[in-house]
Amino acid sequence: MWVVAHRGASGHAPENTMAAFRRAADMGARFIETDLHLTRDARVVAIHDSTLDRTTTGHGLVHLRSLEEVRALDAGAWFGSRSAESFAGERVPTLEEILQFAKERDVIFYLEIKSDSAWGVEHAVVAALRDSGEAARVIILSFDPATIESVHRLDSTMMTGYLCEDPSNDLVERSVRAGARQIVPRGDLVTPALVEKAHRAGLQVVAWTINEPGQMQQLIAAGVDGIMSDYPDRLVSALRKT
Ligand code: G3P
Ligand code: CA
Repeated sequence: MWVVAHRGASGHAPENTMAAFRRAADMGARFIETDLHLTRDARVVAIHDSTLDRTTTGHGLVHLRSLEEVRALDAGAWFGSRSAESFAGERVPTLEEILQFAKERDVIFYLEIKSDSAWGVEHAVVAALRDSGEAARVIILSFDPATIESVHRLDSTMMTGYLCEDPSNDLVERSVRAGARQIVPRGDLVTPALVEKAHRAGLQVVAWTINEPGQMQQLIAAGVDGIMSDYPDRLVSALRKT
């Protein structure tokens, strides 16, 4: 069972920051999920929203700012009210920093290419992965089958996962058609029958985003291969009890 820290250990530290990634690895997560957007100068950065406002001291669209402008912002101070610890001074990570961290801590990153990213993000991500030599340490995720197909056209060796949040009978077929190796459904869509069907089609199943230990136990019993959680420590504890 894979413990996947959602946006890092985002229940404990500001999402999608190096502090959240370090916390996740320290808690025993061997997998970390993060979200990608493109800057004005075509650099790939880890941030969930298409705008800077919620999680940084900046404003406006990420793709209208240069990397230098984005890196000047504070991405940790906003978390202050949720923690006694101060995370002020955290920056929006670059994909290069993330890949270096993955190598140093021997973790795998789920890289979600956000559907509202700027045009060309797939090219920038694949190029950065090739330059790093660490492409084997990532699984590219998207809600959009066209994005997964586009990644495969650029590099057929990339491992990909299809994110699903709409109840449908053909999730497995859609994942296979897109060329994904994993199906990554919202937790409430997972049933033992879906897991069995996915496994028969050669797909691994990773559910998101599960923070309640009871729901973790249900998904483990359903046979999923991995679970994403904002609290990887809770998942590690749940797994010890099984
Ligand atoms: O990658 C799974 C999950 O992260 C998708 O939702 O909004 O947290 O990116 P969101
Ligand atoms: Ca995500």
